[in-house]
Amino acid sequence: MNISVAIDGPAASGKSTIANIIAHRFNLVYINTGFMYRAVTLMCMRKNIIYTDVKGVCKMTKSLDIRFQKDRILVDGEDITDSIKHPKVSSSVSNYAAISELRKLLVNQQQKMASEYNVIMDGRDISTVVLKDAPLKFFLTASASERARRRCIELNEKNIPAEYDKILDDILKRDYIDSHRAASPLVKSEDAIEIDSSNLSISEVVEIISNYIMKYIEKHNLKSLR
Ligand code: DC
Repeated sequence: MNISVAIDGPAASGKSTIANIIAHRFNLVYINTGFMYRAVTLMCMRKNIIYTDVKGVCKMTKSLDIRFQKDRILVDGEDITDSIKHPKVSSSVSNYAAISELRKLLVNQQQKMASEYNVIMDGRDISTVVLKDAPLKFFLTASASERARRRCIELNEKNIPAEYDKILDDILKRDYIDSHRAASPLVKSEDAIEIDSSNLSISEVVEIISNYIMKYIEKHNLKSLR
């Protein structure tokens, strides 16, 4: 029996940091679906394929070999994890992620991964579309100002220049596009547990989610996970 944990939430709400820690703790494969949309965006930008060229974007996506290695993403063997976090990719990715034909292609790949492994998957449509039947669903939020503050620190640590006002503006724009698009907009699934992390530390959020997973493991006697 496969176990799937779904985490959705807006940009920079801490999903990836938390999912990564939980993955290690419970021996789950971590699939960062935002990385997949970012990977397609980066590869399209490199080849000058703009988001209005839906056929071009899909053709490019079908040709890519996307793989995860722990918290890194490899495309055609190249580790592009650092490049996809660049602000240029961040400010374009929502436009690509709004293409429904592209979403179908990536959702298929994500569902295939979840059928093969015990996964923790984060994104915007995991609870509502990709893993509708996941037994453990979480919706992680934080105020836009707190998310911008965290993203600035993260970028500065990687020596990528980051201005708070620009980052906040970008987060607000992405929130708007992600939650107003026609294809799988960001919404909280009715059966997801909402956690507002604005005033919580990473370890506090990890403990909350871990407790739910532990209860599920005990209830279903899934000892082999740990
Ligand atoms: O989580 P992130 O900021 O890395 O996500 C990058 C973009 O991809 C963001 O605009 C939302 C979009 N996305 C999506 O539409 N569906 C997902 N499952 C994951 C990300």
